[in-house]
Amino acid sequence: MSRFYCAFLFALGLAAFAVPSSRAAALTNPQPDPVYVVLGPDHHVVVRALTQAASCPAIEWNGGPAQGMALRALPARVPARTGSAQTQSKEAVFDLRVCEAQWPLGVSSARVAGQEVPAPRKDIRRIVIIADTGCRMKGSEKAFQPCNDALQWPFARIAQSAAATRPDLVIHIGDIHYRESPCPEGNKGCAGSPWGYGDDAWRADLFAPARPLLAAAPWVFVRGNHESCSRAGQGWFRFIDALPWSETRSCNDPALDAQADYAEPYAVPLGDDAQFIVFDSSRTNGAPFSTEDAAFGKYTQQLLSVARMAMAGQSSFFLSHHPLLAVAPSKKSDTFKPAGNEGLQSVFGALYPERLFPEGVALTLHGHVHLFESISFKGAHPASLVLGNSGSANEGRVPQTLPAGTQLYPGIEVEDYAARSEFGFATLERVASGANDAWLLTEHAVDGTPLLQCAISGGKSRCHPPLAAGR
Ligand SMILES: [Fe+2]
Repeated sequence: MSRFYCAFLFALGLAAFAVPSSRAAALTNPQPDPVYVVLGPDHHVVVRALTQAASCPAIEWNGGPAQGMALRALPARVPARTGSAQTQSKEAVFDLRVCEAQWPLGVSSARVAGQEVPAPRKDIRRIVIIADTGCRMKGSEKAFQPCNDALQWPFARIAQSAAATRPDLVIHIGDIHYRESPCPEGNKGCAGSPWGYGDDAWRADLFAPARPLLAAAPWVFVRGNHESCSRAGQGWFRFIDALPWSETRSCNDPALDAQADYAEPYAVPLGDDAQFIVFDSSRTNGAPFSTEDAAFGKYTQQLLSVARMAMAGQSSFFLSHHPLLAVAPSKKSDTFKPAGNEGLQSVFGALYPERLFPEGVALTLHGHVHLFESISFKGAHPASLVLGNSGSANEGRVPQTLPAGTQLYPGIEVEDYAARSEFGFATLERVASGANDAWLLTEHAVDGTPLLQCAISGGKSRCHPPLAAGR
């Protein structure tokens, strides 16, 4: 152990005695070390383990001998990123050692420190979908969600209910980390919460509340704007990104952000000729890009790459945090405004003016707007799902119906629309394969009660009336 790290641990111990903070509580009541599985590019399956121990834990494959996991990232203190909160910032303290192991071909089970690790499945029939899960603490907007109140920040209850559906796969469509500013003095709702971009805030927003769901199945993570380099990107690369960690792709040096943002798209096979295509939109704009913008060129190349993946004779579902076609609440009650991301629209519309997406993309899934929405269109545009209601503060209500003829983009008219403004999560289950590929989307309440079901096939999503009262 280095002298620096000994000094750091000593200082941490002093701080724990001096300040009755959540970190001190964590030291006296240590939570189990997180262990989880991430699916990434090129069919990579990565087991991750975070630990405060001085070395990485061992992993056992198929009940065989213990083998040491590889070190991904050492504990570190990295300089402050200014983020979007722009009220206060501090260096990010990462006191967890990040360890990993690639899942070998032919292995069907694994254990880390006696803990069963969820195995990847070839044939994926049931998928849990969540997005926008963290507890919003953002000084610049004076927005402080009551993180200590499970009714007002229900992500832990959602993770418990979602795990009970026994998924084969979990998808998080971005915006994991929300605790960017310190809880104001005297605010009981968020009192004691960690904040900033270090691993105490990541623990509070993800690893502690999501524990049962991380244990239930491997995850696919889609990067949100909260995980861009200027915000929580350092934690994104240490904990979440499936490719090897490097200084160049770490978000530690703002001069390298252009290399660390705009990660290349990749496909995740679901079996039986279906796949997800994961797209990193974390740095997109709320306004159209000029064709001269570097981002326009990067996203164009990446969309062409998506088109090549989608040509493989499969049903392709496109995942990006920012929706291209969505509605959001407007300030007048029970009205709405189009909420498609204009930065992505400018790129996608230039390449694919007819349907915004390449042929082969049959459905698109997003977060960012803190609601559930299923929107299907007349014509060839793939249906758009928004699934951003899994914990972060709700931003208002949208109407239960849209006026006939509503267009969310020039020439793209809504055919079928359903929305829920309350917290919840979704499941996507395969009901038919091959040429008649069909899926059933279910929107659940926080306690897991199914409230709404949508039949998905042929690029359309058609929702049934709610199955239960109290929607
Ligand atoms: Fe977002």
